[in-house]
Amino acid sequence: MSVTGLTVLDLVAAVAATVALLGAATAAVTGRARAAAAALAAGLAFTLARLGVVAALWPAGWWFVQDKVTLTLPLAAATAAAAVVMSLPRLLPAARTGRPAGGAAVVVPLFAAGYAAAAGPVVTLVGGYPVSWTAALLAVAVTGAATLLTWRAARPPVPRAGWLAAGTAALAVAAAGTALVPAAPVDAGGGPAAGHVHQARPVAELRGPREPAPGGTVRRYTLTARTATVTLASGRRVAAWTFDGRVPGPALTATEGDLVEVTLRNADIAAGVTLHWHGYDVPAGEDGVPGLTQEAVRPGGTFEYRFRADQAGTYWYHTHEVSDLGVRMGLYGMLVVAPRRAGPAGEENITLAAHTLGGALVLGDRDGPFDRRTAAGTPVRLRLVNTDSTPHRFTLAGTRFRVAAIDGRDLAGPGELERVALRLPAGGRYDVVFPMPAGGAVLGVDGRPSFLRLVAGAAPGPPEGTAGWPEFDPLAYGTPAPAPLPAAGPFDRRFTMVLDRGFAVSGGRPMYAHTVNGRAYPDVPAQLVGEGDLVRVTVVNRSLETHPWHLHGHTVQVLARDGRAPSGTPLLLDTFDVRPGEVWEVAFEAGNPGLWMNHCHNLAHADLGMMLHLVYAGVSGSFHGTHGG
Ligand code: C2O
Ligand code: CU
Repeated sequence: MSVTGLTVLDLVAAVAATVALLGAATAAVTGRARAAAAALAAGLAFTLARLGVVAALWPAGWWFVQDKVTLTLPLAAATAAAAVVMSLPRLLPAARTGRPAGGAAVVVPLFAAGYAAAAGPVVTLVGGYPVSWTAALLAVAVTGAATLLTWRAARPPVPRAGWLAAGTAALAVAAAGTALVPAAPVDAGGGPAAGHVHQARPVAELRGPREPAPGGTVRRYTLTARTATVTLASGRRVAAWTFDGRVPGPALTATEGDLVEVTLRNADIAAGVTLHWHGYDVPAGEDGVPGLTQEAVRPGGTFEYRFRADQAGTYWYHTHEVSDLGVRMGLYGMLVVAPRRAGPAGEENITLAAHTLGGALVLGDRDGPFDRRTAAGTPVRLRLVNTDSTPHRFTLAGTRFRVAAIDGRDLAGPGELERVALRLPAGGRYDVVFPMPAGGAVLGVDGRPSFLRLVAGAAPGPPEGTAGWPEFDPLAYGTPAPAPLPAAGPFDRRFTMVLDRGFAVSGGRPMYAHTVNGRAYPDVPAQLVGEGDLVRVTVVNRSLETHPWHLHGHTVQVLARDGRAPSGTPLLLDTFDVRPGEVWEVAFEAGNPGLWMNHCHNLAHADLGMMLHLVYAGVSGSFHGTHGG
């Protein structure tokens, strides 16, 4: 069973145990001894079942069982055992003789066991990973207080020692509340601390070069951010935030080695706007993160971006100010860099972003099925992009194809594929190549099997059964080839990020956050690296939602998913879906000094805390720095 399956099973068993034990207590109160004994037996069985489930979950990693092993299982097991020892000897004779057995000595242990069982799901879902001393004390104190109140309600006076214990527990909780104070601001990942730097370089001064590479040219663009009503192909009108009045914004193109210069103007986006070059490892001062690398551009303002197009491939740009809302409203566009040595002669390039605009799925700028004519035999390169916050599933019917590149980076030995679905993570890109078949080809997105028809002669009919196609796995594709980074290290720094859902304080504001190691931005310690470090990162998803992880300014090399290394092509990514229960190991070289965002690209999750900074020793901030977009 999967990690998520076991996690859910544990939650279900804990809820069942809670219901059974509280049911036993209620039955005892109302004098139904036989029902009470049976319910107690059920409660015990569910608690024992949890032991088995947690034992099965353990090999997946300590992260997945920490709360259960250190707190909620011992609490549940101890109180259930106490209920058996204290209540059962009185319940059984009563059950046999048909007399009621509802005294405090029977009822209170049953209620206590029920409260303790309930602590399991509450700690897992509300507390999240890791269980802190505060959460542990709180769980014990609440269980104890509820038991005392029950005891009082059952009439006998509660001994002074009981109240004393409760008071002590409450004080301990208050004291442990100091654990809510932010942790050390920086995690050095086992490497040297920043030390004292005499001349830190301000991040805003880490700007792009002024000249293209030899043989390259300068590509100048101006993008004006403004509100506009866009009319979709279906005629539907959507109030959007746009670059140049269009969604997606103008496509920016360049050839490897060119210098890209983009002037951003903000006409009337009151929230402010920036340009972030998603997946493009630009100098830090060009990265477009408000409050970190620049201030957001306010209405009437401008900002000049400049970087060299050193990475060929499919990329995109988007605003990073209130990015959850801004990107959703339409502030994004494509960035495609052609390689110096051009692709096959006459290659037809089609770049299509899937995006949810005003509630409708749009592909490129079309909100409904469309056709495109291409001569049979033409080499086609479909550049598929996901600019949404959740995955999109693409299908290509009518042709065999190859996945030539992922996230702009070419794959090694990409083999022919057929009848498989491509699941693109939020922010991700797949380049799909094939010779145009005479019978045409049909591209589907999510539940719509023929969104785009590529037509050579007669229009292809609707494809059959794409919903059942298996999912393509990039970790088992292509052929092994030398990778840029040594998978075995040695690593200068190691970081672990456990992603979960839980209560956290974010900048002094309590919220039900998407957490990293139990904390929410800006209270997640920044990861510190030194220039040239080889860094290993473990990303663990303990939650029940997918988290598309994205590090700015660096390409990561996948080392393993759930302990298994990629069996084919090396995988170099900028965004990877960490699904519930998964553990990813990735590596990167700290070769781009700056201050960088490291976040979940489900931008709503990022907004609710799932973000942190990666900082280089010797680089200083220039702005207020707690924003990040
Ligand atoms: Cu496309 Cu900070 O991200
Ligand atoms: Cu997320």
